[in-house]
Amino acid sequence: MRVKSSISNFFLLVVFITTCNADLLDLIGIGGTDQPPYCTVTPSTTPSQATCASGTLDDLKNARGTHSNDVRPDGLVPSWINIPLAKKGQQFAKDYLLSILLSHVYGLLSSGYPDAAYLLMFSGGSATPEDAQKRYMATITQVFVWYQDTLFGPPTANVSDILVSLAKVRSLHIAVAAAAANRMATNGNLVDPNIYENYNLTTVLSGPYYQDLNASDIPQTMRDPPPSNLNVSGVVPFNQQVAALTQFAFAGYPVLFSEQLGINATDDEIWAFNHLWAVLGYALGIDDKYNCALQPNLQQQRQYYREIFETFNVPIQFNMDFNTKALGDITAAAFQALVSPLPLTPNFILYRFLVDIVQIPAPIVWGTLTNEEKNVSNAFEFSMRPMFMTNPVYRLTENSLLWTGMVTAGSNLFGVQNYTTRYYRARTVFFAKYD
Ligand code: HEM
Repeated sequence: MRVKSSISNFFLLVVFITTCNADLLDLIGIGGTDQPPYCTVTPSTTPSQATCASGTLDDLKNARGTHSNDVRPDGLVPSWINIPLAKKGQQFAKDYLLSILLSHVYGLLSSGYPDAAYLLMFSGGSATPEDAQKRYMATITQVFVWYQDTLFGPPTANVSDILVSLAKVRSLHIAVAAAAANRMATNGNLVDPNIYENYNLTTVLSGPYYQDLNASDIPQTMRDPPPSNLNVSGVVPFNQQVAALTQFAFAGYPVLFSEQLGINATDDEIWAFNHLWAVLGYALGIDDKYNCALQPNLQQQRQYYREIFETFNVPIQFNMDFNTKALGDITAAAFQALVSPLPLTPNFILYRFLVDIVQIPAPIVWGTLTNEEKNVSNAFEFSMRPMFMTNPVYRLTENSLLWTGMVTAGSNLFGVQNYTTRYYRARTVFFAKYD
């Protein structure tokens, strides 16, 4: 009986996933622009049209005084979108859902920039793993809506789950940025500097993580405080720098570290995923000059992401204050609860991040892992990851397991009706303290 019902559940799941993949855009006949998105128009001839913006690292370094979230008078979808390419990027994200989720977890955990961390502390929901679960479940759920719904275009934004979701996230960002600016004007500090004074770090962020980093051969230039941490005047909450670095946290790792994430994709697929994130970045208020996914080709894109990684991501690992470590600790624990069928414990994730992404040996963190965590890590490295790269059926099964876990966790946190259909998820699954 049990076997039968789990087989039929699995079947339903496959049908569900397949339905999510259905190409609605083709069904209703909405097309994108004919122009490929990159390098087709020179700025001098049509300045209003987005071109190969190719923002530079210097632009990004100096963007802490520039507001994000500007108005988008022509809608959330940029004129330069290449819809088939963006849809291909979505398909890629769904094919490698588990790897992509892992990359997002790495990305969010490794982005402890003060302008992001303190805004999250200010907006609440990050005091305990239980609180943080709801916030991150909402975030991952909406990001998955952006991978699932292909309806980028008219007839009206209200029938498009992706556009409704993006508009809502944008409105949350605008509201929280305004509240933060207000708080800073009246109080000077976004949060009480002792916000986590009674918090005990529970993961390897309590010490071993930094012992491995310090013992590595990472050069001094990548250990100094990154531009995100320099004491400069005129920093605004929710600025273009932190927005673009967060965009990098979502888009950058699959482009730079696909194999380490178990992704066996063509350059075309990676480029498509990157284009999707260029579009999402635009929709979320990142201007083209700072949009870190708008390089002219994959080779330059990789080069630019590598520079961001070495200028911001690696250095921030050496320069987190206690509050930011506490936030990371809580966030890692929250992620584990969200994907509970998969044994992704915080220390396992932090270990794999050091080994696969920062690419240093991490013997001290390894020594703190339980036998089970070591087994999972070995299984990930020597069996799961290679199979993920070579066996689409295995991938589908693991992705399905992940999705089942998310539906269970999401239904518990947000209610069955709100979680089970994409329509509801795009409209109701939000942390939404600032609305
Ligand atoms: C491309 C970059 C970004 C993406 C993809 C993104 C994604 C999201 C998503 C999906 C949500 C909705 C989930 C929820 O209800 O909490 C959200 C909310 C939120 N985001 Fe972002 N975000 C980005 C940048 C940022 C940055 C840079 C900050 C901080 C400086 C930030 C802070 C927040 C906060 C505080 C909320 C919750 C609002 C509330 O308290 O009601 N986000 N974000």
